[in-house]
Amino acid sequence: MAQEFTQEASLPHPGPLTDAQRKLIKATVPILAQRGGEITRRFYESMLEAEPDLNNIFSHSKQMTGHQADALANSILAYADNIDDLTPILPVVERICNKHASLHILPEHYTIVGTYLLRTITDVLGADVFKGELYDAWFAGYWQLAHILIDREAALYKQAGWVGWKEFVVAKRVQESEDITSLYFEPKESLLLSAYRPGQYISVRRFVPKLDRYQSRQYSLSDTPTPDHFRISVKREAGIRATHPGSDTPDTTHAAHPGWISNLLHDTLHEGDTVELAHPFGDFFLDASPAPIVLISAGVGLTPLLAILNTLVKPTEAPPPKRQVSWIQVVHGPQNHAFKAHVARLHAVNPNQLATAVFYSHPEGAAAGKDYDFAGRMDLAKVEPKMLHLDDPATDYYTCGPESFMAGMVKELKARGVDSKRIHAEVFGAGSLPL
Ligand code: HEM
Repeated sequence: MAQEFTQEASLPHPGPLTDAQRKLIKATVPILAQRGGEITRRFYESMLEAEPDLNNIFSHSKQMTGHQADALANSILAYADNIDDLTPILPVVERICNKHASLHILPEHYTIVGTYLLRTITDVLGADVFKGELYDAWFAGYWQLAHILIDREAALYKQAGWVGWKEFVVAKRVQESEDITSLYFEPKESLLLSAYRPGQYISVRRFVPKLDRYQSRQYSLSDTPTPDHFRISVKREAGIRATHPGSDTPDTTHAAHPGWISNLLHDTLHEGDTVELAHPFGDFFLDASPAPIVLISAGVGLTPLLAILNTLVKPTEAPPPKRQVSWIQVVHGPQNHAFKAHVARLHAVNPNQLATAVFYSHPEGAAAGKDYDFAGRMDLAKVEPKMLHLDDPATDYYTCGPESFMAGMVKELKARGVDSKRIHAEVFGAGSLPL
């Protein structure tokens, strides 16, 4: 909490944008759409070469795949496009700020990013074009956006129980399925761990000697808040080698793959090991409401929804009032069905509160009606209509899984008349959804 921030006053404050500046920024949207990806790729290259310490903050794989550059380009484009009224991009801003807070991004970082961003735009568009009033408009525009982010991040840091990285010990590892392992983390010093909202994530940071840098990734907390530990449940990506056979030495052949760090955690994080964690953040979380809630997941996307489920439905019968919960999930096959017994137990104890429907996309070797309910991809039309609570206009829908899966769910729910404000989607990785 006692975080020393760069004094706001020492950052550039070019003042409110003028109408003429807004017009100039909007006029740049077509060229940005055309060359935005090139600008941000070159921007990252030059910034990370000049400021190599930042490699400890950015994801190596997202740099290699260009995902981070694309995410930045898209957000700047959306900003320029909505410069007259930023309301439509506020949900994206909230998502970015939570991600930044989880990675401990500070105001001084914005000076570095702004410097290299404007320098690269100048290089790409040409110093004879990107100059004078146009340059000044973008300088003011960048700092307007930066201050929105800085202010929101300062508020998030203020609410958090701690800021920065804290050491935790791996207290327990539990294999939940062939590909998902839960890791239980206990703090080395006394910390209040229950101050998060079910659905939020933590960043896990480790030093990777072979890359000679820290790397961190975000993982949803997979259990209801408890005072003494955090739990995450991590999927091992098939075919991605993280270590040399029989050793803990990282094998960087697949380091550019988004699942490499998860596999490294699987292979090298043992009980008793120390790891650094950030305070939980995230804009996807359980809202306080008595209305029914429908949790729709695919694969390891069940993790944030499990935290929500475990918060609402208890393994021992609780007194009313109880919020109606529907658990609808698609799993690859029986060997991947993590937390199967747990959800079945919750359902057995609370049959009137919790309804479940499980799809297996590859049901070979499993018993229909016992292990799973439906074979094939998730299809909400197959689910008992009352599980979707479509007749209650207050029902909340939470979905998590691959982006294409969620896009399909969002589209289907909207087609059935659900207001997009009641659909909450958690994207793993730098993505965007047509909400
Ligand atoms: C993530 C935009 C400033 C570091 C992101 C994402 C966006 C974004 C769109 C993806 C969010 C997601 O995953 O959902 C911006 C904008 C900025 C800005 C518009 C300035 C106006 C900064 C600064 C830093 C930074 C100053 C620190 C040097 C990161 C990191 C990530 C991230 C580390 C996570 C991606 C990764 O792990 O590589 N930002 N950002 N950003 N940003 Fe920023």
